[in-house]
Amino acid sequence: MAEIDYSKRSFSYYPTNAIVYATCIEGKWSKPVVTDNFNFSLHCFAGVFHYAPCCFEGLKAFRGVDGRVRLFRPDENAKRMESSAQYLDMPAPSMELFLDMCVSCVQANWEFLPPTDSCGSLYLRPVLFGINPQLGIHSSRDVMFAVMASGVGTYSGAKILVPGTAVLSRNYDRAATYGSGGYKLGANYAQSLHAYNLAHKMGYRELLFLDSATHTHIEEFGSSNFFAIKHGCYITPNSPSVLPSITNKSLRKVAEEFGLKVERRTIFVDELETFEEVNSCGTAVVITPISRIDDKVTLESGTITREYKYLDECGPISRKLYDRIIGIQKGMEEDTYGWCMFVNEPK
Ligand SMILES: Cc1ncc(COP(=O)(O)O)c(C=O)c1O
Repeated sequence: MAEIDYSKRSFSYYPTNAIVYATCIEGKWSKPVVTDNFNFSLHCFAGVFHYAPCCFEGLKAFRGVDGRVRLFRPDENAKRMESSAQYLDMPAPSMELFLDMCVSCVQANWEFLPPTDSCGSLYLRPVLFGINPQLGIHSSRDVMFAVMASGVGTYSGAKILVPGTAVLSRNYDRAATYGSGGYKLGANYAQSLHAYNLAHKMGYRELLFLDSATHTHIEEFGSSNFFAIKHGCYITPNSPSVLPSITNKSLRKVAEEFGLKVERRTIFVDELETFEEVNSCGTAVVITPISRIDDKVTLESGTITREYKYLDECGPISRKLYDRIIGIQKGMEEDTYGWCMFVNEPK
């Protein structure tokens, strides 16, 4: 196979060798199957096509400097999938099955693990959805759980840590106050697609959602959490309608390690002008600096744009956090917390 240039890849689907799947029918889980058939055959009345009983996860496998392959905190993804499935009232894979299928998926796609010195990773996408035929509106009894992979480059396709611009979402909400925003449901993303398209058409890389009740405080980006640095503090929103990001959780630990004060609290829009460094963070984006946030405010006289400007490059503290996280993921730094799970090369 010709060598892949991961610097030319973005966060997209690129073909791999195989996927792994298992089903749970009437409460009984099947053995996982590894297959090169990427097409599922599903009943057209399967719940997922109608009422969206679907949740998913995203995690990455890295080839380390020591040649060993690591999955970053897959147990956290297993737990979050379990909580999403609970919210949907449908069966979830056990921790053991989740981890086992992630490992099998990496092993089946070993040749797509990017080299350590590239900006790439093998992104795993575990997905769980309702498959039993139904018409009434109720939770799915039977589910399929699949883990697939894609060898990805950086999120935007640009070099690492290249800043992008964002706009506040004034006309669309991602999640209701007492809604499903804290779970990783497909439906949450469907909800944000149109708003995202509009933001992209206006030339913004990111869309920053506000709390749906008052539109006065920051929630998160459509595919990542928000964090800012100010006066030696790592500040990130605390809201039940924000997805509990595993990257953000890890960065908070690392921030403490670096002597930063960590604040999880309400962040009012006005506070945006006081931040020294602003970033999005998540598995796919890792840390992506934000150079400007625009707020298009509609007044009786028309729309005005209020601009919050930040550095045109990654800020020094964010860079340190980035280096530490990537260092742990790729085995360059000591994994003090035991976050990485090793995957053995298939025989
Ligand atoms: C809406 C949203 N918030 C935050 C995140 C970041 O979460 P994590 O760090 O677990 O990938 C993601 C990506 O998974 C996301 O889609």
